[in-house]
Amino acid sequence: MSLATIHSRAQDGVAAPAVTVEVHLSGGLPGTSIVGLPETAVKEARDRVRVAIQNAQFEYPARRVTVNLAPADLPKDGGRFDLPIALGILAAAGHIPRDALDRYEFLGELALSGELRPVTGVLPAALKAALSGRALIVPRANGNEAALVAAADVRSADSLLQVLAFLRGAGELPAGVAATTGAADDATAPPIDYPDLADVRGQAQARRALEIAAAGAHHLLFVGPPGTGKTMLASRLPGILPPLSEEQALESAAVRSVAGQSIDFHKWKMRPFRSPHHTASAVALVGGGSIPRPGEISLAHHGVLFLDELPEFDRHVLEVLREPLESGQIAISRAARQAEFPAAFQLVAAMNPCPCGYAGDVSGRCACTPESIRRYRARVSAPLLDRIDLQVEVPRIALAELGSEAAAGESSAVVRSRVAAARERQMQRASKANARLSHREVQRDCVLAPADRALLERALDKLGLSARAYQRILRVARTIADLAGAARIDTVHLSEAIQYRRLATVRA
Ligand SMILES: Nc1ncnc2c1ncn2[C@@H]1O[C@H](COP(=O)(O)OP(=O)(O)O)[C@@H](O)[C@H]1O
Ligand SMILES: [Mg+2]
Ligand SMILES: [Zn+2]
Repeated sequence: MSLATIHSRAQDGVAAPAVTVEVHLSGGLPGTSIVGLPETAVKEARDRVRVAIQNAQFEYPARRVTVNLAPADLPKDGGRFDLPIALGILAAAGHIPRDALDRYEFLGELALSGELRPVTGVLPAALKAALSGRALIVPRANGNEAALVAAADVRSADSLLQVLAFLRGAGELPAGVAATTGAADDATAPPIDYPDLADVRGQAQARRALEIAAAGAHHLLFVGPPGTGKTMLASRLPGILPPLSEEQALESAAVRSVAGQSIDFHKWKMRPFRSPHHTASAVALVGGGSIPRPGEISLAHHGVLFLDELPEFDRHVLEVLREPLESGQIAISRAARQAEFPAAFQLVAAMNPCPCGYAGDVSGRCACTPESIRRYRARVSAPLLDRIDLQVEVPRIALAELGSEAAAGESSAVVRSRVAAARERQMQRASKANARLSHREVQRDCVLAPADRALLERALDKLGLSARAYQRILRVARTIADLAGAARIDTVHLSEAIQYRRLATVRA
C-alpha cells in the first residue's frame, strides 16, 4: 500500500477537532512535501520526522512523499503531528499493518532521537477520542493527564519505536495510569485542602457576603484598609463552594491542558483559585498571543478569580473583563481566526478605600484629598462596578478581637453545608446558580410584593443605579431567600441585597 491515513487532533481553543494525516508515496524525485501546515512548521516537522525515522532504524522512503493534513483550514501549530506523520510515512511504506491504524488516534512531538515529547491540549483530545470510540496514543509525559478522562482508552509511549512495536503486535503499551479519576477520592491520596474560614476573626459582614456569593455564584468586592483580612477571606471562597462535578473539573483542567500547564493528579478536582498581580499584561489576564492561549480568567474557569488592588489594574484590562463577567466566555481574535475559551469565573476583587488605604479610619491618618480619592475610585468604572453584585466594607477590627477566641468564626464546613442547601434549591428551581438566571428567569423566580417593588425602585433611584443593577439585586435577593429557606423573596431579603449596592455611590 502506498497510501496511509492516520487519525489525530488539532487544538482550537479548548476544542480538539479531528485531523486526518494522509500520506502518499509515489515515483518521481525523492523528497517530502507537507500540505496543510504553516510554512515554518512544515520545515521543522519534516526534519524531525525524517531523522526520528532513521534513528528508529527504518529507511526513510527514497520516493516522493506527500503528506496532507486535513481539513486545511484548521489551526495546526507545534509538533503534535510529528508522530502521526511519521506513522503515516511508515505505514505507506508497508511497515505497519493496514488494519492496525484505524482504531487509534495519535499525538506527539518527536525528538531527533525518536523519543516522544509532551504536547499541549491532550485532555480535550482524550475527551473527543473517547466519543469517537478510538484509543488515544500519547507521549508518556501526557499519559496521566489524558487518563483523567475515565471513558478514554489511553496508552502512552516513550518513543516512536515503542509505538511501532505495539502497532506491529510486537509489544505492549501501558494504559495511561489506571483509575486516575478515583485518585482524588482515594484514601491514600492527599485530601483536597482549602484554607479554612475558622481562621478569620470578626468581619461578620464580609463573611456573610462571602457566604451569599458562594451560594448564588455572585461577584464580590471587598473595600477596606490593608491588613483587615480581605485576601484571607477571598482565598476561602473555593472551600465553601459546592465541590466541582467530574464534568466541570474536566472542563477546567482542559483549559490548563491547552495552556500547557501541568495538571496535578491529586488536586485536579479542586476549584481553581487564580490571583494575578495587577501588573499582569492584558494577554496574561484575558488570553491571546499569535497561537491563542487562555489567560487567567480562563484558568479560573469554574473557580475564583481574585483581583487584589483592583484600581491598580490596567484600565483597558478591566474593561475587557466586562463581557466575560456576564457571558462566562472570552473570544480572542488574531489575524486570521478567533479562538473561544471558557471563562465562567467568579470574581472576588479587593481595593483600598483611598490611595493611602486609610480613608474613614478612626486613626484619622488618611491625608488623601477628596480629588485624589475620587480619581482613585473612578479607575474602577461604573459599568464594571455595576456587574459586581456584592460590595462590602472590611473595616479594621480591634487588636483585642484579632486575638480573641470568642471572635473566631464558623468553620468552612459549617458554612459550606448552608451554601450547598441554598444551591440545591436553585438547582431544583432553575438548574443553575442565581447569578446566571436570564432576565426571563428573574421575572419568573424573583417576584416581589408590590410594596417591595416600590422599595427597590426608590432605592435604585436614590443610589443612581441602572436597570442592570435592578436585575442583579433581584438575583442576590433570591440567593438570600434561598439561604433562609424561603420560597418567596421577602422585604428583609430584598433590603439586605440593596445594602450590598451602597458602595457604588461612595464614588464622591
Ligand atoms: N480578620 C482577621 N482574622 C484573622 N487574621 C487576620 C484578620 N485580618 C488580618 N489578619 C492577619 O493579617 C494578615 C493580613 O491579612 P490579609 O488578608 O492579607 O489583609 P488584606 O488583604 O485586607 O490586606 C493575615 O495573614 C492574618 O494573619
Ligand atoms: Mg490583601
Ligand atoms: Zn487615604
